[in-house]
Amino acid sequence: MTATITSIAHYLPEEVIDNHYFESFLDTSDEWIKTRTGISERRFAKDGATSDLIVPAAEECIRKRGISKDEIDCVIVATVTPDHFFPNTAAVVQHKLGLKNAWGFDISAACSGFVFALATASSFVNSGLAKKVLLCGADKMTSILNINDRNQAVLFGDGAGVCIIEKSNDDNMGVIDQILHIDGFGGQYLHMVAGGSFKPSSHETVDNLEHYIYQDGQNVFKNAVVGMADVSAEIMEKNNLKSDDVAYLVPHQANLRIISATANRMGVGMDKVMVNIDKYGNTTAATIPICLSEWNDAGKLKKGDNLVLASFGAGFTWGSVLLRWNLND
Ligand code: ACO
Repeated sequence: MTATITSIAHYLPEEVIDNHYFESFLDTSDEWIKTRTGISERRFAKDGATSDLIVPAAEECIRKRGISKDEIDCVIVATVTPDHFFPNTAAVVQHKLGLKNAWGFDISAACSGFVFALATASSFVNSGLAKKVLLCGADKMTSILNINDRNQAVLFGDGAGVCIIEKSNDDNMGVIDQILHIDGFGGQYLHMVAGGSFKPSSHETVDNLEHYIYQDGQNVFKNAVVGMADVSAEIMEKNNLKSDDVAYLVPHQANLRIISATANRMGVGMDKVMVNIDKYGNTTAATIPICLSEWNDAGKLKKGDNLVLASFGAGFTWGSVLLRWNLND
């Protein structure tokens, strides 16, 4: 028995921020950002919370599936920008959508959030614990972004991707395999210093800008290149897949150079790599489901396509899922 994605949708805020926007107040340039990251523009949400990015995507996802909201029995939200510490964002989403028969929770795994949540949701479906999981990867990164720090301001954007996970009508389709990793040594390179129990919020933490992203970009970069590339190659080897057998690599969108290195290691040409970082930057837990949703909307995915999802993020967390595309239609 396998679980599969039976519907998918995404939402991006309307406000487009191009690279030139940053040139007016940061020592940076459109050229530097494009060549070092692959990003040309991103979307910033003017107001609202992460749940407000999720709700329109979820409404569309449920509508496309043609089911009643009452059939959703579990909500999982992968995010590092929850609306609140508590209640979890899953509860906020459940309430806003009126999912009266659902339980749920949040997953915190940064840029690997969607991959970890997909593995979790599919095992719930396989075990019978849930039948129709609303799986949301969403982040309002502007809520933790230091806009005056050129090392991070240009990298991130806001967005949400939502899918429904159900039992596949074909056991050879859906989530076929996953390899997931965590290693806390990476925490020193990518974290938020304050606001948690380690260092509760105070005037001092606000004055010291400790509620923003802290990132040692070079160390994250080096580890991401190795981690994402290795885990993608490993899942191919484990499942006897040659590069010709892969329809698409679906990488987390953090930096085009990390994506290219991963594709290279897998022996997959860039024509088989989903890339939209140029338009949206890094939306953390949302990058992979937004890619899947866009490629699906464009009619580029066929039943039986082998998709290798690959992620790397804070923790460090990293992993890969082999998804054989099948919308059960
Ligand atoms: N504009 C212009 N110059 C810049 C900018 C900028 N926006 N940012 C950095 N620079 C400068 C640096 O100060 C440095 O200058 P110096 O040589 O005078 O000291 C120079 O450019 C090179 O800096 P590097 O840090 O070596 O630049 P690099 O090529 O590594 O790119 C980047 C930086 C984009 C952050 C890259 O390291 C990266 O992508 N890292 C990984 C990010 C990532 O994957 N994050 C994980 C996801 S986040 C999450 O999980 C929540």
